[in-house]
Amino acid sequence: MAKDFSKMEDSNRSSNPSIHDVSGPSRRTVLRGSLGALTSGLLAPLSAVGGAAALTACASNGMSGGPLLGFKSVPVSTADMIVVPEGYTAQVLAPWGDPAGLSGENHAFKDDGSNTAAQQETQIGMHHDGMHFFSQDGSKSGLLVINHEYTDEGLLFTDGMATWTLEKVRKAQAAHGVSVLEIEDKGGKWEVVKPSPWARRITANTPCEVTGPAAGHPLMQTAADKAGRRVLGTLNNCASGITPWGTYLTAEENFINYFSGGDTPSDHEKRWGLRKGGAGGYRWHEHDARFDAVKNPNEPNRFGWIVEIDPFNPSSTPAKRTALGRGAHEGATVAMTKDGRAVVYMGEDARFEYIYKFVSRDTMKPGGATANATLLDHGTLFVAKFNSDGKGQWIALTHGQGPLTAANGFADQGEVLIKSRQASDLLGATKMDRPEWIDVDKQGWVYTTLTNNSNRGGDKQPAVDAANPRANNTMGNIIRWKEDGDFNGTTFVWNHFVLAGDPSLERADAKGNVKGDMFACPDGLWTDARGVLWIQTDMSTSAMGKGDLKNLGNNMMLAADPRTGEIRRFLTGPSGGEITGATGTPDGKTMFINVQHPGESPTERSDPKAPGAISNWPDKKPGGRPRSATVVIRKKDGGVIGT
Ligand code: FEO
Ligand code: CA
Ligand code: CA
Repeated sequence: MAKDFSKMEDSNRSSNPSIHDVSGPSRRTVLRGSLGALTSGLLAPLSAVGGAAALTACASNGMSGGPLLGFKSVPVSTADMIVVPEGYTAQVLAPWGDPAGLSGENHAFKDDGSNTAAQQETQIGMHHDGMHFFSQDGSKSGLLVINHEYTDEGLLFTDGMATWTLEKVRKAQAAHGVSVLEIEDKGGKWEVVKPSPWARRITANTPCEVTGPAAGHPLMQTAADKAGRRVLGTLNNCASGITPWGTYLTAEENFINYFSGGDTPSDHEKRWGLRKGGAGGYRWHEHDARFDAVKNPNEPNRFGWIVEIDPFNPSSTPAKRTALGRGAHEGATVAMTKDGRAVVYMGEDARFEYIYKFVSRDTMKPGGATANATLLDHGTLFVAKFNSDGKGQWIALTHGQGPLTAANGFADQGEVLIKSRQASDLLGATKMDRPEWIDVDKQGWVYTTLTNNSNRGGDKQPAVDAANPRANNTMGNIIRWKEDGDFNGTTFVWNHFVLAGDPSLERADAKGNVKGDMFACPDGLWTDARGVLWIQTDMSTSAMGKGDLKNLGNNMMLAADPRTGEIRRFLTGPSGGEITGATGTPDGKTMFINVQHPGESPTERSDPKAPGAISNWPDKKPGGRPRSATVVIRKKDGGVIGT
């Protein structure tokens, strides 16, 4: 999510302790130089490499060995285009509004915003975000699964929100969710296969089952779903993850923005940021009472979950996995313990919220998605506490343990999971600077982007602490930790991989310590099969090009060598857009990324009278409108990306 920083949720008023004994910058990066000497003994993160097949491919095609970063970096740019290094190409593959490939539903995109709701249900959604390529035939074809985070009604409709109808609400809901596309390399050019038996759209109205400890809980029951086990849709799908049993995980981030509350919100509603009229201005509640939380107070409890989707079974029902806890989840990244348990890392992207991990009770079984259909339903959820001595601990969110009792408002484990924020407040977890994507490198370090938090250290706001060391944190940082023992360890060591910034700035807290090309507001993270850590930025459109971000141009993607800390700018994006969602083919020769919200204006929504005022990428059609899109990156010589 980009938009205005001031719109970012900031509802954590808990008094749980912050770490006030700030360590010095040298101390905070103490482990950085010794990374190469550390040995992990841990399994490689499956999330990072697309499974064992990719690892095999890596070893056999010359991808290993040599310097990780072999390209010449690109400069900062304000051009309304994708810029890649010399020797690389960028091809637009799957823009918002193109047909998704559903049989008999080949409705062309209308560049005046006049496609209907029924057509949008069959077209690729808006505002692409997390994504994964599931190989079907090596590096030649597969399923590309894409999240669609939110909508810009100034672009989605011919007249924006000037008129507001149920048809428009339905179109906006249809532009959310997830797309499953079959894609194929047709002689050097990737194309969406149309029609395809795999093609699927999951939207804000697709039936999803609720599983795990909160399924059927009284707080999950509504008039339309008295059992509390069947929810319509998934929302604000931000980052993504994959499991080694072949499924896709999509995270419901700023779901509360779609709900309208009353004049006197409950403590629970306040803690989750519910506002009268809806904080996001989506106005769905005006025509769809499901999003009126006065009439349907439990409906918001049914969002904020990690949703598991089996892309290889187009008729499967997406599952909301409540054992992983509820949150404005950015994403869900899976690592496996040596004994085969799934560990899922998740951050909540809101100011002063927390970092979580779930450890499954059971071990993965052979047999793919069917055999592991309940693996994410049983286990323990933990929240992170970063101590000032470079160590940290995971604290269990288990009912009956410590303060998580009925006396403190938690009737059972279901309520602990639904109210994970309140539980974490009581457990003394560390309030972070907006945790976004999480990924794991080949040495077993777990990285999280902390994108920014300009409220840090402000009046009546939490002070800086060791893990969040900069006041008015406009630039963001990347923190990382290594578990003691295996990924299910309950203690860890941590340090900052990098404090993002611009060394030419006067303000000490904005300079950062980047070893290489300057950047700010890290968001997307992906470790490729060679071990390159790709970093994608999301400088808010309201802050871009101004203040501390004045020299940084448009959003970008950079490549980092986790062993040396070097960071090199690889790509710059079109105006007003963010770069997100990285994935690739097993041979490493095709990379897919997403451009989200090109042309986004600093105001709440684009002006439908001038939709191309800031960008008209990628179509560049006079009078047209900018479109979020997946972009294919390849090397002209057919080599591995990044070399
Ligand atoms: Fe959806 Fe936190 O970015
Ligand atoms: Ca974002
Ligand atoms: Ca993000």
